Amino acid sequence: MRNSTRSRVDPFIVMDVMEAARRAEEAGRHIIHMEVGQPGTGAPKVALEALGARMASDPMGYTVALGLPALRQRIARLYGDWYGVDLNPERVIVTSGSSAGFLLAFTALFDSGDRVGIGAPGYPSYRQILRALGLEPVDLPTAPENRLQPVAADFAGLDLAGLMVASPANPTGTMLDRDALGALIEAAQGQGASFISDEIYHGLEYEAKAVSALEISDEVYVINSFSKYFSMTGWRVGWMVVPEDHIRTIERLAQNMFICAPHASQVAALAAMECEDELQANVEVYRRNRQLMLEGLPKAGFTNIAPPDGAFYVYADVSDLSDDSRAFAAEILEHAGVAVTPGLDFDPLRGHHTLRFSYARATADIEEGLTRLREFMRSRG
Ligand SMILES: Cc1ncc(COP(=O)(O)O)c(C=O)c1O
Repeated sequence: MRNSTRSRVDPFIVMDVMEAARRAEEAGRHIIHMEVGQPGTGAPKVALEALGARMASDPMGYTVALGLPALRQRIARLYGDWYGVDLNPERVIVTSGSSAGFLLAFTALFDSGDRVGIGAPGYPSYRQILRALGLEPVDLPTAPENRLQPVAADFAGLDLAGLMVASPANPTGTMLDRDALGALIEAAQGQGASFISDEIYHGLEYEAKAVSALEISDEVYVINSFSKYFSMTGWRVGWMVVPEDHIRTIERLAQNMFICAPHASQVAALAAMECEDELQANVEVYRRNRQLMLEGLPKAGFTNIAPPDGAFYVYADVSDLSDDSRAFAAEILEHAGVAVTPGLDFDPLRGHHTLRFSYARATADIEEGLTRLREFMRSRG
């Protein structure tokens, strides 16, 4: 049977690394996981209890397409608590993770062939989802002096229909401050490009509070998720905030594409929003891990890193050590027993020279991983 050309997207290389790590573990080796972009912790305990209690009495049928009204209201309240933004709950759409938010946003905003700017390095699935929808991802190579975030000059005259940014970003953990984010929104709007802000790592920030695009403009799409701060990756629940006059468009798409986000996950997510103590304790673990990484990676020989403002990643330029990040990551896995991600996932052009280290796991694992990396690099000479 024939395949569409638009389905020919690239594999997610980190998944290949995970598979290689799994094979090594199956063969009896102990591997430290610095490749995975997910918390080692599970959903907050109270969320599990709330779901357990609800399942006893509720058949958990479909919810309405835009999500449980109580959850939409609670998410709207989060914008008051975190950013001082008074948000109409009607503008909150509950999605099956931010991944479904991308599908809905790209479908609602763009027509086939439209060009959408994304920062490089950046989260790989933006590019692949855009391609699969018949849209054209336009890589904006970012500069170290801009902390690997796009600036308006990067897309001047590129005839974009949209611009997608993330702050804190994956793989760098760098953030856009209010001025930088404001300048990007203004430049995008000035060119008639729709602005999409991926805010999935909000709540995981270490120096300053992340700024939401909604603090600056209502004419933006904001995408977020329960996967990271709320530690609920596999539950597949997230949300999106859209301008008022886009709600009905998204509702029609969501009804047809998804019917609804998983009902059980929505119940757990609502309860998770009341678990601040447990979630903040997770953030404190990441904070400690980040400090260990910033001290330990240079000691191991990975000296070219930008301190991350948020998320749980360090992106390292390893051009002094290798010009083949995929082979280098394989060598590190083989000899150090540490799984790391080659930069090619995030930047097809310059990623040959970069690695991403995740510090989302337990502190003891981070300490052990750094020791192994130091010993491996010493033996490598
Ligand atoms: C920047 C970014 N956006 C979106 C996602 C996808 O998250 P979700 O689990 O909400 O679909 C990830 C996952 O790692 C990510 O790093």
